[in-house]
Amino acid sequence: MKILSGTSSLELSNDIADVLDVPLIKVNIERFRDQEIFVRINENVRGEDIFIILSTSPPANDHLMELLIIIDALVRASADRITAVIPYYGYARQDRKSGGRTPITAKLVANLITKAGADRVLTLDLHAGQIQGFFDIPTDNLFAQPVFEADIKGEYSRKERENIMFVSPDTGGVVRTRALAKRFEADIAIIDKRRPKAGESEVMNVIGDVEGRSCIILDDIIDSGGTLCNAAKALMDCGAKDVTAYITHGVLSDPAVERITNSVMKEVVITDTITQPDAVKKCKKIRAVTVSRLIGEAIRRISNDESVSKLFD
Ligand code: R5P
Repeated sequence: MKILSGTSSLELSNDIADVLDVPLIKVNIERFRDQEIFVRINENVRGEDIFIILSTSPPANDHLMELLIIIDALVRASADRITAVIPYYGYARQDRKSGGRTPITAKLVANLITKAGADRVLTLDLHAGQIQGFFDIPTDNLFAQPVFEADIKGEYSRKERENIMFVSPDTGGVVRTRALAKRFEADIAIIDKRRPKAGESEVMNVIGDVEGRSCIILDDIIDSGGTLCNAAKALMDCGAKDVTAYITHGVLSDPAVERITNSVMKEVVITDTITQPDAVKKCKKIRAVTVSRLIGEAIRRISNDESVSKLFD
């Protein structure tokens, strides 16, 4: 097995390489003057089982194109099997026709990756589970749940854990929230969220009695921070004791950091699927936990033809 990092995921790839105790493949990823991407794999990969680690995080178009070009280089270099490890799968939120004459980009991107020559995909907390079926190649969708579970156990005492209420910030996240709540035998609440227009969210109702409870909001993505900060405010308005959030993918577009800093939230915990700029790393209310061991172990299991689902038993 050999692993290769795209430019969007160098920090995470280095951590995964440490977990697996293998070096990263030497590769040049450069730009021509007109910004077209050039890739050269600097070692022999003929007949190898290759894992490309690359999040299609912002700028999503550039990183997606880079992934396709790396796959093409590996196909032409006669790699035996190519797995696209996409810790954050961008373009996933357009997973159905939201209106007349609109695209389904989650499917389009799956087609592009498959057509480029990937044999498998490994990803984490897809925006919607059914996107797995948009790929006509084997696709493993990991969950950050065990990483979050361990962190919560470290942060909250046994007594404090009895007062936790897990909260889904919209109806789409209920399954994910219920799964983690079950691990703690805790209650769940649901936010009735509406989007008057793209990029704006509005809380209509809080379903569940959150008075006096330590609320933990779970979500797959924090982008502009509107969904999360509005949900946190609504929970505090309903008498919650405090609000923390565990979000898998920290997209954190402007003005998310500012919103979080000025919000009622105690802390926002994200994972390292997306490399963060200094402004995020310096924000006292944002903390990152690593998914490198989880992804590293999944890569090891895929390479050895072992069960991946066993990781979540
Ligand atoms: C929506 O369905 C997602 O799960 C997130 O809640 C959403 O993408 C977050 O976006 P924002 O932070 O811009 O409100």
